[in-house]
Amino acid sequence: MLRIPLRSGDFSESLAKALLKLKLCFSLIMSTPSNSPRKVFVTTALPYANGVFHIGHIMEYIQADIWVRYQRMRLRGEDRLYFVCADDVHGAPIMLKAEAEGMAPQELVNKIAATRPKCLNGFLISFDHWHSTESPENTELSRDVYRKLKARQLIYGKTIEQFFDPVKNIFLPDRYIKGECPRCHAPDQYGDACEQCSAVYNATELIDPRSTLSGASPVLKSSEHFFFRLSDPQCLEFLREWVKGDRLQGEVTNKIREWLGHDGEESKIVDWDISRDAPYFGIEIPDAPGKYFYVWLDAPIGYLASLKARLAQENIALEDFLGGADIEQYHFIGKDIIYFHTLFWPAMMKFSGAPYHIPDNIFVHGFIMFSGEKMSKSRGTGINPELYLDFGLNAEWLRYYFAAKLNDRVEDLDFNPDDFIARVNSDLVGKYVNIASRAAPFVQKYFDHHLGKNFADLPIVQETRGEATTLAELLEKRQFSAAVRRIMELADCMNAYWDQKAPWTLAKRFDTLSDAERADLHDTCSAALEVFRLLTLYLKPILPRLAGEAEQFLNIASLAWSDADVPLPMGHRVNIYQHLMTRVDGKQIDQLLEAQAKQQIQKSEPEAKSETASAMINIDDFAKVDLRIGKILNAESIEGSDKLLKITVDIGEDKPRTVFAGIKKSYSPEHLIGRLTPIIVNLAPRKMKFGVSEGMILAASSTDSGIYLLQPDAGAAIGMKIK
Ligand code: 2FM
Ligand code: ZN
Repeated sequence: MLRIPLRSGDFSESLAKALLKLKLCFSLIMSTPSNSPRKVFVTTALPYANGVFHIGHIMEYIQADIWVRYQRMRLRGEDRLYFVCADDVHGAPIMLKAEAEGMAPQELVNKIAATRPKCLNGFLISFDHWHSTESPENTELSRDVYRKLKARQLIYGKTIEQFFDPVKNIFLPDRYIKGECPRCHAPDQYGDACEQCSAVYNATELIDPRSTLSGASPVLKSSEHFFFRLSDPQCLEFLREWVKGDRLQGEVTNKIREWLGHDGEESKIVDWDISRDAPYFGIEIPDAPGKYFYVWLDAPIGYLASLKARLAQENIALEDFLGGADIEQYHFIGKDIIYFHTLFWPAMMKFSGAPYHIPDNIFVHGFIMFSGEKMSKSRGTGINPELYLDFGLNAEWLRYYFAAKLNDRVEDLDFNPDDFIARVNSDLVGKYVNIASRAAPFVQKYFDHHLGKNFADLPIVQETRGEATTLAELLEKRQFSAAVRRIMELADCMNAYWDQKAPWTLAKRFDTLSDAERADLHDTCSAALEVFRLLTLYLKPILPRLAGEAEQFLNIASLAWSDADVPLPMGHRVNIYQHLMTRVDGKQIDQLLEAQAKQQIQKSEPEAKSETASAMINIDDFAKVDLRIGKILNAESIEGSDKLLKITVDIGEDKPRTVFAGIKKSYSPEHLIGRLTPIIVNLAPRKMKFGVSEGMILAASSTDSGIYLLQPDAGAAIGMKIK
């Protein structure tokens, strides 16, 4: 390669030098933490107010709460952090559910809102404020955003045709229309997509459509809707720029780039319908009577409404807080709502202009599974958070378990009862708490609660202290499972050190110890408590209550992250040690799961009763029973039962179901294997002495005759619906 030597005074050389200098300055600026106070704004997704929390909500809140608590441990004087949430109350489903329950939407919303504190407090979620999207702040902000987007020509009106229920007098959202799939002809498919063949279509393409609200055939009716020009080149350009770098997780960026189109590909983005016609529970659109914002427009603005309400408590204006370059805005969400948060939401904020801020990061998590399967309400699987608390299970066990499994990727998290018990008992209690419970009695008994002199620089302490930076990075990046793993390794090291030092051997002959031996014993026990203090500090975002109790025992002020560098002083006095955490008893989990299954049955019983009470049922009542064709894969007698057979039935799901049927007197197992049978698949699971029954096989019987199973005609196949 030809190199042209630079002469002194050469223009390119001075330019290169100037650039180098600039680069150095720049990197210096970038690597020096800004001195202006941090202003941090964090949210979790707003839960719909038509139901109580499920475990997925709690997992997201715990993930965000751990991160927020870590951030709070690092805040300095003027820094501010607000962690807020709210009920997402608008939309057709809530309006229709309220109507079905004979109440006004706001009444239903209030009823649900009243259930929130129990779980939020119970699981130690430290929101600074909980608000509602039906609030003056949200109305004002939603209208402001709309007006600003409109002023930039990003909103337009267009008349569209939609299905309308002529009985209920309401435009029908796609989910309230069912009919035959226009592609594969599967019956009973929703108005937007077919669950059988996955085709996506317009509701108007369904064959023989009907409203699920009234059963009526919907009619086409036109009305004007408002659209946000998401497909506008300036929006696409902004979003393509916004997703660059590592603001989003890799999986999320890839997904968005697919939507946005990259490398010259065309985008798949279409304009967004942001209005709905009355009757609708929502915020009325300015100058458009009878038109409401679609719930997904005002829901994320609810983040700002909640923040505004919280700031008002300190007389801070939202504009003042959001304004300026220093604000950091983060949203924790689940993978099902990426589209709204990475396309609509940043674009809305960008083009609304000041004082709105474009989110800095969207942190996406996966779903929660239960022993490898999707949590299912109807099958009664999963963990009901309220019952978890009612059964006296410790919230911090669950916080710890989630932390031990959560990372920064969009992965599903599996709750496995045995794994839960093992991690809590062997790691949390057996390793970490164990350190304090081993060392405290020695300090109390032999040293009158006082620490020694030379423990703070022992290698075991130094090693534990030296991990503060690495652990901070892991917590910052939401790599909680890696952080927990490292913390437990440190606990392992401490326990091994303890075993190796075997302080009990010196203690046995305490009265005859030399001064050096006595100091050695004292420092070993003190080092253990100093390591325990450090591990408590590292675990504090995950275990805030336990950390509080540990601080009380250690007789120290509330731990901040910088306290990692400030060891307990020599001669420090600790308080009386009280055991900090009990182990999980497997029976507690069994009881919880059993209670959940029972609750499921009780919930379905009132319906069953009302069916028998009234002789007539309508077609919708019948449609509630999900009857399918199943194939019996296996049947076996059960020892200890003269009535029941344990039957394994394939109904076309990933895994066959287990059903216990009282037909042993009429059928021998070997005659059942291979035959087809009708089965009710949405009957609440029933916990029986021999296991959980996940459905019911139908048979004809009367009191004085036998039991006769039913058999479909030839042609019926596994999984077919019976109607
Ligand atoms: O999917 C949901 O549960 C929505 N209620 C989330 C809304 S998040 C935000 F946009 F408000
Ligand atoms: Zn189909």
